[in-house]
Amino acid sequence: MYALNASNVKRKYGAVQVLDGLSLRLEQNGFDALMGPSGSGKSTFLHIACGLVAADSGSVEIGGADVTAMSDSAAAKFRRRHVGVVFQAFNLLSGKTVRDNVLFPLKLDGARPDGARMARLASVLGVEALMDRMPESLSGGEQQRVAVMRALAAAPEVVLADEPTGNLDAAATRDVCALLKSASAMGESAILVVTHDPIVAATANNVHFLKDGVIVASHPTQNDPARVASLYLEACS
Ligand SMILES: Nc1ncnc2c1ncn2[C@@H]1O[C@H](COP(=O)(O)OP(=O)(O)O)[C@@H](O)[C@H]1O
Ligand SMILES: [Mg+2]
Repeated sequence: MYALNASNVKRKYGAVQVLDGLSLRLEQNGFDALMGPSGSGKSTFLHIACGLVAADSGSVEIGGADVTAMSDSAAAKFRRRHVGVVFQAFNLLSGKTVRDNVLFPLKLDGARPDGARMARLASVLGVEALMDRMPESLSGGEQQRVAVMRALAAAPEVVLADEPTGNLDAAATRDVCALLKSASAMGESAILVVTHDPIVAATANNVHFLKDGVIVASHPTQNDPARVASLYLEACS
């Protein structure tokens, strides 16, 4: 079984066919990047994959369950358990400590957090010292660390990160790359990171290129940003 199996996903906005039969498979515990020109539908695809936006047709299975067939409330519940999301804007709740932010989705579900696992996550992600702080007192890079920990808290099948370094400087970007790699090494979740940055994409093991509503090419990154940049030009220009 795949962690995520998107099959022939179509979605129109007005007259624009944004996704035109997108198919993409993520191996369990895979680490993949998705690149494509601005406006090519990357965010639309992630929103469909986490059940926030409906597809016109096609399916997205996560851990074998078809997200596109769920009601909004079923999708919300499914997301909390099975899909971790990290957005460019960190979306942390102000007025709640880092710890409460991380545990919030689990608590909504009435799930009891596994203390030992939380401690391991905090240590792997380097957020131990931040747990009692308020998000508004953290730097952008620290907030993104916390957002990654929140995404991993429920040990989801898939973590979807939409341009997680889009608002960060070069140093914080390197930090988030290392973090995603550590998250992947935990061996629990497949990770899909959407990015414009070949350095970020090259952190992943495979890269997929989205153009004209479909995945036009997929390649191993060989952890080589120059290779990724030239493959991108080949696929998307
Ligand atoms: N809620 C929406 N309503 C209308 N058009 C939208 C909406 N969301 C996205 N689009 C359009 O769909 C296209 C793809 O957008 P998006 O998925 O955000 O692209 P990307 O993330 O690759 O930059 C764009 O033309 C955008 O204007
Ligand atoms: Mg986008």
